[in-house]
Amino acid sequence: MSTPLKNDLFLRALLRQPTPRTPLWMMRQAGRYLPEYRATRGEAGSFMKLCMNPQYACEVTLQPLRRYALDAAILFSDILTIPHALGLGLEFEAGEGPRIDRPVRSAADIDQLPTLDPEVELRYVMDAVRTIRRELDGKVPLIGFAGSPWTVGTYVVEGGSSKTFSHIKGMLYGAPEQLHRLLAHLTRATIDYLKAQVHAGAQAVMVFDTWGGALSPAAYREFSLRYMQQIVAALPREQDGRRVPVILFTKGGGQWLAEMADTGADALGVDWTTDLATARATVADRVALQGNLDPSVLYAPPAAIRAEVGRVLASYGHGHGHVFNLGHGIHQDVPPEHAAAMVEAVHELSPRFHV
Ligand code: CP3
Repeated sequence: MSTPLKNDLFLRALLRQPTPRTPLWMMRQAGRYLPEYRATRGEAGSFMKLCMNPQYACEVTLQPLRRYALDAAILFSDILTIPHALGLGLEFEAGEGPRIDRPVRSAADIDQLPTLDPEVELRYVMDAVRTIRRELDGKVPLIGFAGSPWTVGTYVVEGGSSKTFSHIKGMLYGAPEQLHRLLAHLTRATIDYLKAQVHAGAQAVMVFDTWGGALSPAAYREFSLRYMQQIVAALPREQDGRRVPVILFTKGGGQWLAEMADTGADALGVDWTTDLATARATVADRVALQGNLDPSVLYAPPAAIRAEVGRVLASYGHGHGHVFNLGHGIHQDVPPEHAAAMVEAVHELSPRFHV
């Protein structure tokens, strides 16, 4: 038996159940903007060593919760653990972002991809989940996550970050069947990976589709949404007698929220380019919404942050089903006190939307 949750506001909001205030967490809440994170990463030696050591991964997961009154923890890991486990040669170079030594570009490359057993190649992630759950001791729920097959595919095919997506879009339009084979392989791996995270103790899961917004509507449906739909359909939705909510987040996906809600996900992440009021009217209480403060608001002084928090809360409006968050990850040069001002503002301003 696992410890009962002391704070389940986040899980309740994802299921559109009543809460006395709006729960919150921050995308990338464990990261370089925190001096204690930089210290632990220094001790670990590198970003991947931090991810692969369950004690370090647990430590950095808990760091933001010691500073701020957040309502969820997110597993410290990365969406690129799958390409790493596939043996593609992942490296994170300081200041340059991820690099994949052996990008997957031909039919032969795709045929050679191994089938993963998440309790073997990604055992360190499951060990981190188990360690974090033990250390959290029911304080707040733990979110597990993975990248969408399309988004992970962009790194796998491009060999790193990209502005133009030349190789993967060349494949999408020139050899769509080949891209479908790659995405099907990544989908299989992602389903097994997320299932293993839930079995290890993740209490909600989020799929990050950071680059879905780079697609045309038709290509989004065929190459990103379709595979996220398969993931939602395949995940176990209950563990230890509680529903395990699934959150889908397509950055730049505001125009597809209705179709995303059709997947059967419990909640959708929304970035700051879409009004929550519009988003809420579109999904009509079928799913909860998570978002959507522009992360750059945190460059402004606390009074301005408070006003913008108020604007986001008012945009969602009265009633349940909102998880406050940034519209994308926190920037690394944000002063930690500014994040504190945001958290305080949500605690102070949100109760009146729940009476
Ligand atoms: O606190 C959390 O939110 C949990 C940890 C987390 C990380 N990455 C840690 C990380 C999560 C949820 C991610 C997801 C992720 N990783 C995404 C999707 C979300 C998004 O932000 O769009 C993507 C696209 C990646 C891929 C990735 N990882 C890139 C492009 C980079 C380098 C660029 C950058 O921001 O530094 C990373 C590295 C990474 N992942 C860091 C962290 C804290 C920084 C590494 C460091 O410490 O040097």
